[in-house]
This record gives sequence, C-alpha cells and structure tokens, in this order.
Amino acid sequence: MGRPRVRLLAAAGLVLVGLIAPGTPAGADPTTAVVGSPSGGDPYFPAAGNGGYQVRHYDLSLRYTPASRSLTGRARIEVTTRREDLRSFSLDLRDLTVSSVRVDGRPADFRQEGPELVVTPGHVLRARQRFTVDVRYGGTTGQPTDATGALYGWVSHPDGAFVANEPDGASTWFPVNDAPYDKATYAFRIRVPEGTVAVANGDLLGTRTRAGWTTSRWSAEEPMASYLAMAASGNYVLTASRTADGLPIVNAVDADLSPTDQAETAEVLARQPEMIAYFAGLFGPYPFGSFGAVVDDDEDADYALENQTRPIYSGPPSEGTVAHELAHQWYGDSVTPERWRDIWLNEGFATYAEWLWTEHRGGASVQEQFDTAYARPATSAFWQVEVGDPGAARLFDAAIYDRGAMALQALRTRVGDDAFFRVLRAWAQRHRYGVVSTDDLVRVAERVSGQPLDDLFTTWLHAPGKPSRP
Ligand code: ARG
Ligand code: ZN
Repeated sequence: MGRPRVRLLAAAGLVLVGLIAPGTPAGADPTTAVVGSPSGGDPYFPAAGNGGYQVRHYDLSLRYTPASRSLTGRARIEVTTRREDLRSFSLDLRDLTVSSVRVDGRPADFRQEGPELVVTPGHVLRARQRFTVDVRYGGTTGQPTDATGALYGWVSHPDGAFVANEPDGASTWFPVNDAPYDKATYAFRIRVPEGTVAVANGDLLGTRTRAGWTTSRWSAEEPMASYLAMAASGNYVLTASRTADGLPIVNAVDADLSPTDQAETAEVLARQPEMIAYFAGLFGPYPFGSFGAVVDDDEDADYALENQTRPIYSGPPSEGTVAHELAHQWYGDSVTPERWRDIWLNEGFATYAEWLWTEHRGGASVQEQFDTAYARPATSAFWQVEVGDPGAARLFDAAIYDRGAMALQALRTRVGDDAFFRVLRAWAQRHRYGVVSTDDLVRVAERVSGQPLDDLFTTWLHAPGKPSRP
C-alpha cells in the first residue's frame, strides 16, 4: 500500500520545491524527508533519546546562581544526520524554557512538548551530513526525581548543584539526545558566583574570575554517554595531582564537611592511584585521560554515580564505593550497555571489582563475598528479579549488583581463573568506548574460554529463583 502514492507525492513535492523553495539544497526532498522520532527506542525510557541523527559533540555554556536556582544555558550541539533527510527532529529537555534555536546559524522553528524540544529548521537537513544546533535556554532548577522517586539529574542545593543523571536525568539541565548508545565528546564553560567552585568531566582547561563571576572551562575528550555528564558546583576545594604514571587526578571536596569527614575523605581518595594501578593490571589500561572525585556534604542522601572521569558522592565515600565507581570507568563508561535492560553489565562488573579490591586489601575473599550474597534464603524476593531484563523500576535493585556479580563468579568457577581474567580484559579492550549487549559478552566469554556458556548466563540472568551453587 502507498507506494505509487508516495512516488506521486514526491514528484509533486519536487515541483513545489522547484517553484517555491529555491533555498532547499539540491537533493534534499522535503516530501520524503522524515520527522525524527522523539524516542531513542529504549522501551524502559521511551521519551529519552531521539531518532534521525547522532551527536558528535556538545559545547555547553552554563551560568548558575545557586541562591535563586537560576540556570541559563547555551548548547552548541554538533550532529550528523542518519540515513534519511530530516524535516524536523527532537532533543530531550525538561522543565527549562528555550528562547531560541539556530541550525547552522539560521533561526529554526521550535516547540516544547513535554520532555521534547522539537526543532524544524527552515530547510531539510540532508542525510549523512553534519549540522550545528544552537539552543539558548534557561529557568529555575528544582529537585527532579527518577522513576523510583530518587533525586537525580540537576539537584539544586543552597550552595550549588549535585549532578547525577543516570538513567535519564541529563535532560534536566541540557538539551540532549539522551540515549546511552549516542556517545559524544563534551566541552563545558560553567559560570558561577565568585566563591562557588564548578567541576565537570575531563580536564580543567582554565578558570577566570571577573565582575563577581568565576568561569571554568572543562573538556571531556573521550566519547561519553549523556548519563555520565556532570557540571556540579558547591563550596568545593579543588586539588590536582598526578599518579606515578602521570594521569591527572582532580578532586573536588566540600569544604563544609566536618574535620573528621574531611580527614576520612582525604584518606580514601588518596587510595585512588593505587586502585587505578590495581584495576589497570586486571582489566587493561585505564580508558580515560584523567580521574578524580566530587564529594558533597549532603547528609540526607546516600548517592554515588560513576560520572565519566569524575564520580560524584553525596557524602564521604567508603573505600569500597570509590573502588566501585572507579571500576565503572572500564565497565559502564568505556564499555556501555546500548539498552538499559543490560544494566547488570555495569553493576555486576563494578560490584565484582569491589569484591576484588576488598580481597586485595586483605579483607574477605571474593569467594567469601559471593557466599555472603548467595546465603540469602531461596524464598527471598531477591532471587525473583530477572537481572538480565529487570524493568525500569528495578534498574538499581540489590539483585542487579549482587546477582550480577555472582554471575561473574559462576563464570569464573566454570572457566577457571586464567580464562576468566582474559575475558575481563578482552571485554574492556574489544569494546572500548563502544556500546554492548549481554549477547556480546557471551560471545567474548565463549571465544576466550572455548566453551559454550549460554546455559550459565541464562540461569544467572534470566531464570527466576535461586540457582544451584556453582
Ligand atoms: N550507578 C550508580 C552506582 O551504582 C547508582 C545510580 C543509582 N541511580 C538511581 N537513579 N537511583 O554506582
Ligand atoms: Zn555502580
């Protein structure tokens, strides 16, 4: 159905184009051009992400006044259209008001429909071409919550903002193609009142204070998923150092923490270089150009997120938590699930890494930690979660972490230490900066070990109930 009609319409359209739209670039046919989907296609978060284009780079200029929670932004986004000419497309942006949109420097029509910013440029965007989208926006930020009711995204505090987007909170502070498979590089220019300190992902390029405002510039040079982007601010003290291998470490620690909390935090963060060396020995080279931590002083929250190159903690983190967020740099940040149902590839691996670190430091062995997790009674609701497809409301259930890590220990028990650690390295290496699914892991594990492993992963990830002891 529809074929000849489409062709007829297309022909009519071409005539029209010739008559009334001489500005349309040659080859761009407005009648066959598509409207980019307002969904990235992940059934867990249908409003997040968009179709029709990919982002190469976000250049974000933000001005934030904590006292009034006022955020003003300008996002210059470099996109590449996909296979079809684009008539219009969407970006994700929530609770902030757009004042202008330009595409390649020319004013574009736009409208905000719930969480979507729909942009219709004055001309059709040709397939497989690069364009720049320039969005000016602003508003008053709040206390956004995720599907489980947890604070996330741009969380306003009296002295700054705590920023933790996972899974779909990036759109609370910038216009974004908020799908984990669309990785891009980022540049940040963050302006805050003098005395407030801003921190983002990547390298600090420079800081300047003028007329009561401090502007800092940050650059994240490796591809990054939007849920890992961060531009936090607060009463932070920034410290910069380097590991023995020359990797820059930039930490931001809240000066309002008690002296005891400060001392504890300093002691834990001082272990980061040793952790990086330990994990690099097991997983392969650290994937990014810098590392560090943002430690806030929020006593009501207990929140940590593996923001790329710079995890964020709501309060003084434990050593295990720092090891966990560091391990995510390999597993989650560099090697990223394409779909949210595969979240165990993040949390199972990071939890397993935490077990390894604990054993390395002379604490409980990995097997002992497995045993503790496995000791949950078979009647516990814990064993009913389908870790390999948990649903949006259970993304961060304990089972995702612990049963995920147990699945890896089951794999290790099956294939032996040598093959197991080769799998961990191959996984990080082969899919570096990429996006993956559980099937990709099964393939890597089977190739490296030379064994069929479908049954093992099915049992641990998809079969309800408590698996028999590996
Ligand atoms: N990925 C984080 C961690 O395990 C947890 C994020 C929780 N996010 C949420 N929206 N509740 O380190
Ligand atoms: Zn985690």
